[in-house]
Amino acid sequence: MAQKLWDKGISVDKEIERFTVGKDREMDLYLAKADVLGSMAHITMLESVGLLEKNELTILLQELRSIYDIIEQGEFIIEEGVEDVHSQVELMLTRKVGDAGKKIHSGRSRNDQVLVDLKLFTRRRIFDLVTAVSRLFEILSKQSETYKTILLPGYTHLQVAMPSSFGLWFGAYAESLVDDMQMLLAAWKICNRNPLGSAAGYGSSFPLDRQKTTELLGFDGMNHNVVYAQMGRGKMERTVAYAMASVAATISKLAFDSCMFSSQNFGFIKLANQYTTGSSIMPHKKNPDVFELTRSKCNRLQALPNDILLITNNLPSGYFRDLQIIKELFLPAFDELIDCVNITADMMQDITINDHILDDERYNLIFSVEEVNRLVLEEKMPFRDAYKKVGLDIEAGNFTPNKTVHHTHEGSIGNLCTENIQKMMNAILSEFTFDRAFSAEKSLLKKI
Ligand code: ARG
Repeated sequence: MAQKLWDKGISVDKEIERFTVGKDREMDLYLAKADVLGSMAHITMLESVGLLEKNELTILLQELRSIYDIIEQGEFIIEEGVEDVHSQVELMLTRKVGDAGKKIHSGRSRNDQVLVDLKLFTRRRIFDLVTAVSRLFEILSKQSETYKTILLPGYTHLQVAMPSSFGLWFGAYAESLVDDMQMLLAAWKICNRNPLGSAAGYGSSFPLDRQKTTELLGFDGMNHNVVYAQMGRGKMERTVAYAMASVAATISKLAFDSCMFSSQNFGFIKLANQYTTGSSIMPHKKNPDVFELTRSKCNRLQALPNDILLITNNLPSGYFRDLQIIKELFLPAFDELIDCVNITADMMQDITINDHILDDERYNLIFSVEEVNRLVLEEKMPFRDAYKKVGLDIEAGNFTPNKTVHHTHEGSIGNLCTENIQKMMNAILSEFTFDRAFSAEKSLLKKI
């Protein structure tokens, strides 16, 4: 018998299987609960259009429910030789209930199955991330109000520039999170559309009721066009990754500021002891390792949209196995980011502020603009003349700063607009449709 030159018998198949399955048996564990929920919705719909008997549906739902419990208890595994979570769930069903188990895949492909799994998984993780970001936002807003009268130097080019305050510093990062939340809301809206029913990417000749699965799973609506539904693989993950990268960028900047401000040469803040680590040689050290790791993890997370972009770039429409690799980058990224957000929130809560920073003479010149403005306001001097006078006074060593600041416009030291920022955040938060999504999942699990 003619054999291919590269055929080495059974070991080739094993090699190919190892290569194509890759990390799926580990990655798909992230999707296990979602896979069961997706199947519950799909078979409930199949029964409603006459593709399953009522008694079959009952048995299958019961069995899926017990698989869900096994997953919750952390005892679900994808067995040796089983390719992925979709095959494992179907295998467990067929073992338990026989022929009825073989019917659940009517009108479905693993392509739309993994699409819906990814969306259900991502919905839950967006919720977890939004919860963590909201907590950090609250802590930052509170610290901003608590320390609103405490001044610190503001910098441009890392050269001392103008008076700033802890109210501004904390509040700036709170407001940054408002914009990040806006990105997360867009990500949520794009994620929360039902792709199920697109099957292999071209729909099915079965009379599927896609509105039904949309409602059963609590989606806002569906991806109507089946080709577009499949095109959403990679696009959804990339969009969510942009929002995650946005949060990560805020945290990374905050981490850098905190490392710098806690250095003895600045001495603006002190991190609580439990967030610092010692040195093996220098007995005096209290290093900000937690913030340094936060910074690097958040910097790496900012590569995520780009990584996904490069995997999917230039792929035409339709399913490709390339898409499988996205899971390796995307699924574990949520834990990493949420971890960083939570630990940053803890550190911001326990931070100690130096409230006498500006007593130090080295910061005297940051009050130069205050003096220029005083001359303009009180002495009615034209700005350029006042600027010149103060400049000459500084050169001649005749400048004595008046260290009280009087900033009143919106968003300045004396008028932080914390309430307005809070309102913006609340308006965004109210648009997430978490309740519908998760109560649908809950009632699906209670259906038996
Ligand atoms: N593991 C695959 C993935 O993540 C599941 C879909 C398989 N579909 C296929 N046509 N081979 O993409």
